[in-house]
Formats: sequence, C-alpha cells, structure tokens
Amino acid sequence: MAPHVYIQDIAEYLGTEDVGTEVTIKGWLYNKRSSGKIQFLQVRDGTGIIQAVAFVKDVSPEVFARCEQATQESSIIVTGTVREDPRAPGGHELSITDLEIVQLAQDYPITPKDHGVGFLMEHRHLWLRSRKPHAALRIRAEVIRATQDYLDDDGFVRFDTPILTPCAAEGTSNLFATEYFDLGKAYLAQTGQLYAEAGAMAFGKVYCFGPTFRAEKSKTRRHLTEFWMVEPEVAYLTHEGNLELQENLVSYIVQRVLERRADDLETLERDTRILENVLPPFPRITYDEALGLIEEKGAEYDCPALPWGEDLGAPHETLLADQFERPVFVTHYPTKVKAFYMEPESSRPEVARCADLLAPEGYGEIIGGSERISDLALLEERLVQWGLNPDDYQWYLDLRRYGTVPHSGFGMGIERVTAWICGLPHLREVIPFPRMLYRIYP
Ligand code: 4AD
Ligand code: MG
Repeated sequence: MAPHVYIQDIAEYLGTEDVGTEVTIKGWLYNKRSSGKIQFLQVRDGTGIIQAVAFVKDVSPEVFARCEQATQESSIIVTGTVREDPRAPGGHELSITDLEIVQLAQDYPITPKDHGVGFLMEHRHLWLRSRKPHAALRIRAEVIRATQDYLDDDGFVRFDTPILTPCAAEGTSNLFATEYFDLGKAYLAQTGQLYAEAGAMAFGKVYCFGPTFRAEKSKTRRHLTEFWMVEPEVAYLTHEGNLELQENLVSYIVQRVLERRADDLETLERDTRILENVLPPFPRITYDEALGLIEEKGAEYDCPALPWGEDLGAPHETLLADQFERPVFVTHYPTKVKAFYMEPESSRPEVARCADLLAPEGYGEIIGGSERISDLALLEERLVQWGLNPDDYQWYLDLRRYGTVPHSGFGMGIERVTAWICGLPHLREVIPFPRMLYRIYP
C-alpha cells in the first residue's frame, strides 16, 4: 500500500524523473475537468488542493470509470505518483494509478458559480470547504497560535476566567442572561478582565482567552454577539508600557501570518504591502488631537465634527486610521464614555489613561485597553456613578484592599484582527460559525 500523505507535505514525495513515488491521498473531489481521454481532478484533503490526472491509456477501465463517476465533494481515496509540474496549481501533480470512491455525493449545493453571501451563510457548514473561507480560517488559527506563543514566551500565565458570571463588567445594556438554579440570574461573560486582574495580583502577568458575549443590537459588519477575545493583564504595568506590549504583540502576529500563511493571503488576494509595514512603534494621538483631525478632514469623509465628550463612531475611526500607515493608538478618551474601572489621568481627571488601537483600511478598533483604578475609594465611587451595585463587586474591591498596585491590560478581538489581516470586510467570515443579531443557524 502506498503511504497516506497530506497534500501540504507532497513535495517530500517527489520521485525521480522515470520512477515516481506512489502515495495515497484521502480527501474529497473539489472540482473536475475532463476531455474524453483525460480527467483532471482537483483533490482537496484539508491541507491543500492538488491536481490528479488520469489518462485513459494509463489506468484500468474501472479506475477511469470511477474518475468519470466521481462528483463534486464525493469522498475519494486517490493513489498515484507525484510529479513536479510548474503549470499545475500548487506546483505538483499526481498521476492517478487508483481511485476509490468512499461516498458519492449527490447535488452538492455550492457549485463553482457565484452564490449570494446569504445562501453561503445558510450553508456555512459546507462553505468552510471552499478556498477562501478555508484560507481565512487557517489565518485565524495562526493569529491565535501567534498570540499564545508571544504571550507564553514572554512569561505570561494563561488564566481561564469564567463564562457564567454574576454581574456586568463592560456595560449593562448588552448582557445575555440565563437562570442559575436558586442563585438568580447569571450572565454570559462580556469580558474576563475583572477576573484577570485577580490573576495578575497572583501571578504578575496573565492572560485570559475565550469566547465573549455581547447582546448587541447592532447589525454592523464589525459586531458579533459571540466573539473571541484575548485579555492580557499585568501588575505594575502603567499606561505607556501597556501600549508597548500591544504594538509588539500585534506586530508579531502580523509578521507571523506573513511568514507562515503566505499562500492563504494569496488565496484571499490580500495586498500585503500594508501588512509588511506593521512594525513597532505605532503612532499615538490623543482623543483631543483626534477631534482636531476630524474637524480638519471631516468634509473629505462626509464625517461630522464631534463635540468633546462623545465617543468616536466607525466613520471617525476610518478617517483617523487613514491618516497613518500603521495601526494608530487613540489615547486619553473622556472618562465618561469608557468603562468604570479606567484610571483617570492624574493631571486631568476628566480623561482616562486608556487607548483604543485602530487598524488601517477602515477596520476600526482592534484593541481596547487601559490602566485600571488602583485606589479603593475612587473605585467605590465610580461603581456608584456608573449605576453598579458595590455589593456585587466586593471581591474585586478586595484587590484594592490587599496589596493594590498600578496595573494595566487590554482586550484584543481575534475576529477584528483576523478580518483586517485577511482584508475581509465582514467579521462573519473569520469565525467558523458566526453568531449575529439575525443569525444562529447553522
Ligand atoms: O473595548 P472592549 O469592549 O474592551 C473590553 O472588553 C475590556 N474589558 C478589555 C480589557 O481591557 N481587558 O473590547 C475589546 C475588543 C475590541 O477592541 C474589539 O476588538 C473586540 O474586543 N470586540 C468585538 N469584536 C467582535 N464583536 C463585538 N461585538 C466586539 N466588541 C468588542
Ligand atoms: Mg472598546
């Protein structure tokens, strides 16, 4: 029996010019072309696609008949010899010696013709097999690996925070609630941050990484109701150090994807020049400077000026990001538009020691972070001002009662980063099964 190999490793099995090495590929028929005497089968196995060729004169009549019979997405086991062929997609070709049909698929719904995205989303479970979704999700996996490698190698401890939580941490208007036995309501986590802060006081540097839930009634291409967020949290780290950590992490991720997933970026037809430029340091502007830029360039972007004290919207973020070639930090937002836990700037308490990182090309906020309030009395006051019940947060206040220190952290949305790196406009394409206001199937 010829050895079972994966298409991504096929180059290791090249034979010499006259004696090919025989291998077996276990996969599915992606597409097929034929011209009576010859069949060109595009075979995929999850790691890649290879062209497999059967000549009527080189194979048994049974094998040739099975090649003819195989339909799109039929599961097949193909044996053949590997040849280098610069004209073939992928640079290699398989000369078929045998083909077994595991299951003959009938009327696969996604044909090579153009389908609308609504139809494709209804068939997301199958659409995952197509080239572009496949490339995007491999890039997502690389973004996640790169993130973890960076943090693990930098001395962070992974610290898993709960998904069922007793109270709000990131605004009260977008909570998914569920009944929790006799203990009343529980909520799906909007962030792991508050728990990660406890982790930072125990381990110094931690990160949590998991699914995050926001019952957001917004239909934009940047919002999912379930998304993945990585949240590093570091004791004794101040605002400026927090920005350095972010720019180093984001640069590392982008460079890793360029290095390891070049094929997938090509499949997505991504212009990689902007990505190559993603190296530290990133520019920093304050919220006040941002308002100035919006006033100056607003007309060009059909974007109204923003009164001081209001949060930036998506058009403002696009305008700002367009002024720079790298991701840009907008720092020192007005305290009142941000979360209750953000440390105010000592010289100017109406703004917070915080930043949002905006990606280029209109991808908007990919990171939100800040220094955290370390003073007990101020934090108690803020909870009340933000309409939260201090009784619910006694454990969190304990972190300020017992050895409080300045500390900082941030949350990076995996889908926002991946969509930007892939150059895909909508977050729904960079998560296997997106959850949105109007979508929970499949
Ligand atoms: O700015 P956010 O809301 O910050 C927090 O949750 C903090 N607790 C993080 C922290 O400091 N530990 O969210 C952080 C990031 C955003 O920048 C964005 O990338 C992503 O999470 N995000 C979303 N991604 C997809 N869909 C949504 N609805 C998102 N909301 C936030
Ligand atoms: Mg934010």
